[in-house]
Amino acid sequence: MQRERILTYRLRGSRITDAQEAALAAHWPKYGLENDIPLNLDEVFPSYKTRIMEVGFGMGEATAILAKDFPETAYLAVEVHRPGVGKLCARLEENGSQNVRILQHDVIDVINNQLTDKSLDGVHIFFPDPWQKKRHIKRRLLTPEFLKLIYPKIKKGGFIHVATDWVPYAEFALKSFAQVTEYQGGEVERPSWRPITRFEGQGLDKNHRVTDMRFTKI
Ligand SMILES: C[S@@+](CC[C@H](N)C(=O)[O-])C[C@H]1O[C@@H](n2cnc3c(N)ncnc32)[C@H](O)[C@@H]1O
Repeated sequence: MQRERILTYRLRGSRITDAQEAALAAHWPKYGLENDIPLNLDEVFPSYKTRIMEVGFGMGEATAILAKDFPETAYLAVEVHRPGVGKLCARLEENGSQNVRILQHDVIDVINNQLTDKSLDGVHIFFPDPWQKKRHIKRRLLTPEFLKLIYPKIKKGGFIHVATDWVPYAEFALKSFAQVTEYQGGEVERPSWRPITRFEGQGLDKNHRVTDMRFTKI
């Protein structure tokens, strides 16, 4: 019997605004990709040399800024939260960005069913749900199993960049990476290219220490 998957997200409370619905209706055909169909990123992003997947973009704040700041990089943006997908569509349209495509899907399914091997130059995971309570720790995304699952999809020399404002999560992630010998890296200084999102701002308001980590696939 198959074990039931423990979800790394919670969808309840995701009310969508009229503006987000309207953005989805108008722009999803342009930015959205279909779930559970193998993705050839060479075809999705034909003229881009660098392709980065962002996992859990939330309301797409960082995604939209990075897409604007780095128009020569392609971003595959993955999020399960429909309002956030609507918001990102609106932001991309407003900025006229051409270099982002969106999947409204669980990244585990994206990795298992859609990505080809060695198709990503990098992965951004900014402020993954911290799952602070002891009984919820099993829901954290950055487990050794997840790092092993995503590993084949990253090119040699490619990276995973993680930021979190929850120190126990940073420690948890560092421990997970240490268990998977195919990655090298650790804590790094906050890179100037990483935009501050509202989510990060809220953490900083609570005096949370933000940790950036970067690992390279060897
Ligand atoms: C705490 S929020 C951070 C959002 C954003 N990165 C930021 O910095 O503002 C984490 C996001 O990850 C998404 N998420 C969690 N697990 C996911 C999964 N398995 N696949 C796709 N998205 C996921 C959640 O829906 C949520 O929006």
